[in-house]
Amino acid sequence: MAQPSKAFLGPMIHSPSPSKLEIIPLALVSVDSNGKIAGLVKNVNAQSAQDALQALDFPPDLITVEKLAPGQFLIPGFVDTHNHAPQWAQRGLGQGMQILDWLDAITFPNEARFRDPDYARRVYASCVDGFLRQGVTTASYYGSIHGEATKILADLCQEKGQRALVGKCNMSRNAPDYYLDASVEESLRVTEDCIAHIRSMEPAGGRVVQHVLTPRFAISCGPDLLQGLGELARQNPDLPIQTHFNEAEQEIKATLALFPQFINEADLYEHYGLLGPRSILAHCCHMTEYELDRLRALECGVAHCPVSNMTVGGGFMAAPVRAFLRRGIKVGLGTDSGGGFSSSILDAMRQAMIASHAREVMSEGQDKGLSTEEVFYLATLGGAQVCGLGDKVGSFEVGKAFDALVVGTRGAEQGIMTMVEEDDSLRTVFDKFIMTGDDRNIVQVYVQGRLVKGAL
Ligand code: GUN
Ligand code: FE
Repeated sequence: MAQPSKAFLGPMIHSPSPSKLEIIPLALVSVDSNGKIAGLVKNVNAQSAQDALQALDFPPDLITVEKLAPGQFLIPGFVDTHNHAPQWAQRGLGQGMQILDWLDAITFPNEARFRDPDYARRVYASCVDGFLRQGVTTASYYGSIHGEATKILADLCQEKGQRALVGKCNMSRNAPDYYLDASVEESLRVTEDCIAHIRSMEPAGGRVVQHVLTPRFAISCGPDLLQGLGELARQNPDLPIQTHFNEAEQEIKATLALFPQFINEADLYEHYGLLGPRSILAHCCHMTEYELDRLRALECGVAHCPVSNMTVGGGFMAAPVRAFLRRGIKVGLGTDSGGGFSSSILDAMRQAMIASHAREVMSEGQDKGLSTEEVFYLATLGGAQVCGLGDKVGSFEVGKAFDALVVGTRGAEQGIMTMVEEDDSLRTVFDKFIMTGDDRNIVQVYVQGRLVKGAL
């Protein structure tokens, strides 16, 4: 086993299940040289910190102990289950548009610029930095259609230390000529090239990037391309799969008109071998009972993107999250940047609450709104499960990677706006952070034990 290299002593909050928020007033967590959690002692008292270190069986002089400052606490890093890296520069544009009009007018012209590797490097560097700053320790990224730009994105995530699923986006039809794969064969060839590139990365600290198969959606992928990607999925059982699913009425109508042999999207994507435990389905706003049952039976995960659902795409209604949770369907949160104007998972958590309260009214009280505990779970372990990383990240457990945020809630001099009082309980401070915090509260960000934002 790797030697412990550092330990953190301070309050810790995580969410091992949707309804359980575990608040530990003082915990000692040690991290080994591979970035994994080597030991975790809960309910330490300040005087016994040295004893606790010894109890962990790690000689205290071998490890650095970081003592969190007053007002600080540890939480697991945020997981963004749905993010378009080439839309970083278009966030906030085209608000209120219907999905297909927004793709044509705003998105395809922007994404096409990633044919230029220099542009890709510049924008993707800013994107990865921006998300790390917001505490996104894992992101599932759609790239553009371009192989070279997609490899640049994967390289940047690795260099900057962000755990990421990175996918070359596949598109063979229904977009302008300047933004389509040259052919189905070329689309698959470039995808395989990106898969090989990512697999060949052998950085010293271990690889934190994976390829994710990324058919944009069935409107832009003909049957032969869907078939080819389904085949790639079969040949590569380690690769996750992501696509857009039942996002808006305009999109569902157009999809079923292109595939008249199906009466819903679940049957369509299942037919092409793209639905299963590895599938990350973005949006899922319009769901019949039948499709809910299929998603449960096939063990698909949902990327819930309430910010974009309420501002871009049409329908302006977010997914029935309570129905997913009730059935045990995996759910996480996505920024859907740049359909979503915000790159903050805290914003996604708040918007998820707001949208769920609207759902509660619409369902005449049947589908209860989401609580703070629940949205925090979606932002952490829920998202990790959707990305196939539930046994690796998302909560604090011995053997998991140390992907964590040090949250600071005091420090007007650092511009922290969250207003806490001396006598606030840890739970109160946590609630205030979730509802009023922003990136200024995210003091340090760790991925696989590596500090990727903030100073020691
Ligand atoms: N459906 C297909 N492509 C996209 C996209 O880029 N954003 C959103 N929100 N929906 C899509
Ligand atoms: Fe999207």
